[in-house]
Amino acid sequence: QEIRLEDYEAPAFTIESINLIFRLHDDYAEVEARSLFRMKKGAGSELRLDGGPYMDLLALEIDGSPVPDDQFVKSAEVLQLRSVPEKFELGVVTRLRPRENTRLEGLYFSGGNFCTQCEAEGFRHITYFPDRPDVLTRYHVRIEADTKSCPVLLSNGNPGQKGDLGDGRHFAEWNDPHPKPSYLFALVAGNLACQNDSYTTASGRQVDLNIYVSEQDLDKCDYAMQSLKRSMAWDEEVFGLEYDLDVYNIVAVSDFNMGAMENKGLNIFNTKYVLASPETATDADFDHVEGVIGHEYFHNWTGNRVTCRDWFQLSLKEGLTVFRDQEFSSDMTSRAVKRLDDVRVLRMLQFPEDAGPLAHPVRPEKYIEINNFYTTTVYNKGAEVIRMMHSIIGPEAFRKGMDLYFERHDGQAATCEDFAAAMEDASGADLKQFRLWYSQAGTPKVTARRSHEGRDLIITLEQSCAPSPGQGVKLPYHMPIRLGLVGPNGGEVTADLEGDGKWEDGSCIVNLRETHQSFRFKNVPEGTVPSILRGFSAPVVLDHDLSDDELAFLAVQDSDPFVRWESTQDLYSRYLVKQVSEDGEGHPPELLLQVFTGHLADKATDPALVAELLTLPGEIALGQKMESLAPERIHTARETLAKAFADASSENIIDLYQSLKAAQGYSHEQGAKANRRLRNVLLNYIALMPDGEETTQRRYAEADNMTDCMAALSLISHSNFDCRDKVLQEFYDKWRQNDLVIDKWFAVQAQSKRSDTVSKVRELTQHEAFTFKNPNRLRSLISTFSMLNQVRFHEKNGEGYRFLAEMIVRVDELNPQTAARLVAPLGRWGRVDEPRKGFMKDALMSVLKVSNLSDDVRELVEKSLA
Ligand code: ARG
Ligand code: ZN
Repeated sequence: QEIRLEDYEAPAFTIESINLIFRLHDDYAEVEARSLFRMKKGAGSELRLDGGPYMDLLALEIDGSPVPDDQFVKSAEVLQLRSVPEKFELGVVTRLRPRENTRLEGLYFSGGNFCTQCEAEGFRHITYFPDRPDVLTRYHVRIEADTKSCPVLLSNGNPGQKGDLGDGRHFAEWNDPHPKPSYLFALVAGNLACQNDSYTTASGRQVDLNIYVSEQDLDKCDYAMQSLKRSMAWDEEVFGLEYDLDVYNIVAVSDFNMGAMENKGLNIFNTKYVLASPETATDADFDHVEGVIGHEYFHNWTGNRVTCRDWFQLSLKEGLTVFRDQEFSSDMTSRAVKRLDDVRVLRMLQFPEDAGPLAHPVRPEKYIEINNFYTTTVYNKGAEVIRMMHSIIGPEAFRKGMDLYFERHDGQAATCEDFAAAMEDASGADLKQFRLWYSQAGTPKVTARRSHEGRDLIITLEQSCAPSPGQGVKLPYHMPIRLGLVGPNGGEVTADLEGDGKWEDGSCIVNLRETHQSFRFKNVPEGTVPSILRGFSAPVVLDHDLSDDELAFLAVQDSDPFVRWESTQDLYSRYLVKQVSEDGEGHPPELLLQVFTGHLADKATDPALVAELLTLPGEIALGQKMESLAPERIHTARETLAKAFADASSENIIDLYQSLKAAQGYSHEQGAKANRRLRNVLLNYIALMPDGEETTQRRYAEADNMTDCMAALSLISHSNFDCRDKVLQEFYDKWRQNDLVIDKWFAVQAQSKRSDTVSKVRELTQHEAFTFKNPNRLRSLISTFSMLNQVRFHEKNGEGYRFLAEMIVRVDELNPQTAARLVAPLGRWGRVDEPRKGFMKDALMSVLKVSNLSDDVRELVEKSLA
């Protein structure tokens, strides 16, 4: 049934503390929970506890006496006690079967270890409890298990006693001094190796840092450990936030529904975001490790010290923490390139969500299954909302706002409104209208038009936002639009502004609040070109009136790297979209070649950014610029332009490629990473030249790191090269022992643009290394195919859609959360023509017909059909 924000009621009881004893056995686990409840004034004496259907209730006691059968009712999801005293100790004993838990929620068994995942509502599968984020209490945990198979016993907080129990069993105790909601509870028991280090906080607390992994992965933890230390230092420096326990434990497990989990003092991670070595991980993988390690660490304050009142407030912790991890990564790597990466993700995943049947606000108002709301809207658009506040009030006021937020809410469960109020009070800004970003779904469109009066330049901005499910009419947003004026010789022009905005470091941030609003810049030199939406200052679709020549000018001259990239992309896209609609075959105009060769010759810019400037817009991005999707034509037009660039600039491409090669020897320094990025973009063009096969194959053979290896392998996987099958087989044979590398092997085949991809992907589900039980493996094959391979997923005969529908049903039997995450691509039927539209709806219908479908999948499939 549907849960609604407007129905929120504060909990009727507080809990002073909970004592948990876990008795772990090979084939079952027994959990004894003793909690001190206290009724709030005016509350009734009935007590409702959450509890899932997969556990047995062995005992239920109040103050040590069994609760008589006629005093409680138990359904599949609730345990209701008719009448309880004002203050009492509740005793609950449950029995669980972790080995049978393929849902990977609650307590489960993975790769020889017991572990937990409690967010959002997993704790109710461990014991009966008020499993909601606004019930905070102190946890004391004791774990008892077999000494041999489970030498490592971990839970939240600081370590307490441990010892031997005889009979080959032992125990360990953990105390967490910080009250927390149940979703932050964690336990790990198993046979794990550990990398240890330490960190001293600014105020002198000595913190023990441990990363637990399986023995054979111990050599791949260095980067995660360094990232953790950098995160700790960064949060002290930038936000004045220190760590607050004596230990920080991270455990990596291979079966995990999401990326990682910020459990207090005991983060549990997907191995994908911990393990990294140059031989097995790409540069992008390294960056993701650093980002996710940072993300979970930053949650310690934004999520754990201040948590969420209810799950509608999820973006309070997730949007803010994504913003924090983005800033951290920007400071550690390249701010310009990081911003491009983030904008690309937003456009590729969040914009489609916002435009389709699953659109919802950053703060949703209703849900059936909360796990379906861990979305790119809540996370990534949520981060953009925080970023806009940062732009509107400025960095100093933002920091003051953060301080005030912690001053007011430390130790509490708060709301998005509390956050906005703190920012408002600290800055004096009026953010009333701004709050619409939390409640309205959909991506706004902003149209910018120019006019001139004498020497004044008038920029008129107009905003609109299309209806989304349940929201017919949208009110105008308050959005910060960062813009600059680039003078005729490339210099920044600073002109007096008439209108709501201010100049800051060469850019002007204007506040767009009306549907239609003008900004007059006084006395602007002739030939000045406006650079609009610098840094992508608001998550909108911008429509402007710049000519091709003006775009080409900004692509080279603008001081803002985002606009340089965006102008380049716009220029390429304009041409490609035209090619697609006219089915044209002509030679690209001179201007495009000029811009491309200009970027190729640019020695002053960071090579990582040059790499992006030389990359054509992706097929998905191009599709978004079209009324109705024409997947094959997009694919062909893009390939044709790439080939034209390769032909026209072959010498320059090869020269640059060679010169980057000269700077040799593997290193993980920023400069070396940037060179690899550029070189691998160039390789894409080289592969299209006459001896492309040879060069690509050589590149593959000579690669001394996974970044270069995957760059070549991905080209080979797309190709009709003779070596293709042999190379793929060799790669598999070489890496069959390494799950994360084999995930790449599946992904690279799922992404292949070859016309036989759908049948190959289907075949791969029968491969010895494929399993429906491991979420990483499912994502690497099925999500990569359906979410990233536009041309093959949208195969005209509907085979891609039918395949995905079958997979959703198969996975749902084992793991509803992960199955639900596969649904979204089928909901995009509004973007395609017949017969595709009909095939997509048929595929959704076929899922709906299945009996015993989970609520998770049903909610999304029904919405997708609506
Ligand atoms: N809070 C985690 C993070 O973003 C995500 C865990 C969500 N898990 C889930 N099953 N919904 O860091
Ligand atoms: Zn998070």
